[in-house]
Amino acid sequence: MPVITCIDDLKQLHKRRTPKMFYDYAESGSYTEQTFRNNTSDFAELLLRQKVAVDMSGRTTESTLIGEKVAMPVALAPVGLTGMQSADGEIKAARAAEKFGVPYTLSTMSICSIEDVAAHTSKPFWFQVYTLKDDDFMRRLFERARAANCSAIVITVDLQIMGQRHKDLKNGLSAPPKFTLKSMANLATKWAWGLEMLGTKRRFFGNIVGHAKGVSDPSSLSSWTAEAFDLTLDWKRIAKFKEMWGGKVILKGVMDAEDARNAMSVGADAIVVSNHGGRQLDGALSSIRALPAIVDAVGDKIEVHMDSGIRSGQDVLKALAMGAKGTMIGRSYIYGLGAMGEAGVTKALEVIQKELSTSMALCGERDVKNLGRHNLLIPKGFEGDWQ
Ligand SMILES: Cc1cc2nc3c(=O)[nH]c(=O)nc-3n(C[C@H](O)[C@H](O)[C@H](O)COP(=O)(O)O)c2cc1C
Repeated sequence: MPVITCIDDLKQLHKRRTPKMFYDYAESGSYTEQTFRNNTSDFAELLLRQKVAVDMSGRTTESTLIGEKVAMPVALAPVGLTGMQSADGEIKAARAAEKFGVPYTLSTMSICSIEDVAAHTSKPFWFQVYTLKDDDFMRRLFERARAANCSAIVITVDLQIMGQRHKDLKNGLSAPPKFTLKSMANLATKWAWGLEMLGTKRRFFGNIVGHAKGVSDPSSLSSWTAEAFDLTLDWKRIAKFKEMWGGKVILKGVMDAEDARNAMSVGADAIVVSNHGGRQLDGALSSIRALPAIVDAVGDKIEVHMDSGIRSGQDVLKALAMGAKGTMIGRSYIYGLGAMGEAGVTKALEVIQKELSTSMALCGERDVKNLGRHNLLIPKGFEGDWQ
């Protein structure tokens, strides 16, 4: 068993153990990948303010997110095809999150279905929806999420149309994978992944196939996706989805102060400042740079969470100090899952919590809820001085 000390160790193992098609699917951004890269490198521009001779005993990373108690303010972000990184991946990730005490968000485009994840967990999880044209399908998705006892819906508002990821096209990404000679050669070196995958029946899009009209066969899914997403989405329609669901709503993919105010006016309980991990609008600002202006615009009238680029507990600390109430991690736990299954997701969470707690101590903070801009050295012009 290799010694895992940081998220990058999990990433190296993930790369070694998972077919290239799926590792590349996770480790890519759209087009030139500028925003994907900046999401992580901009965190390094923010520095932490060291404080000494401050009582650092009895530290806590506990907090609340949309009224739910959490062991640390870090939720697992919705990630499509998680069950292709490791067999039954959504169930494994949800169980790891539940045991750790952080929220898990199941993607619409998951391999394990809502019902399957609910059957293998005991606490409510969050369910992410894409906004589709078909109201009947949306209504049924909400009903299924209610029946599965989901405690919140995460509506993703930044993917009506997909940013292109070159690697996915070149690799012929699909679920289940369609193998070419080249990908078969790669697969031959990933026998442990293959054996696990042979042992599960969950290899299709569990929330879609057999539930959406005209998608009884997974090969028609790509055409369904292209047709199903609602290009006419506006704030009125988002308000309608909130009404259809009738429970807590988190809007994910807000990068602009005016959009954040609109999210408030449709009654969202929280927003996630997110550029989808650099997978949508290439050329957009990194999330950590976009965060402060949004926090300043909405104050504490709505909970602000953020994701994109978090690879350590220090990054979580910086996001919270910049004013986020919570964070989400995507790739950081996917690396863990691809590396070591459920134990790897747990490891990713442990690594991040330990880094967060240690860095809090060295910043002279004992309670994660007290982090603020006073903990940071923020370079002049960090947010950008745009015309
Ligand atoms: C492989 C992959 C698949 C994703 N699938 C979804 C999805 O189905 N729905 C969604 O709202 N966001 C999706 N996202 C975006 C994540 O929820 C999250 O915003 C992003 O991963 C955060 O950036 P990070 O990976 O740098 O932490 C996906 C991200 C990745 C890396």
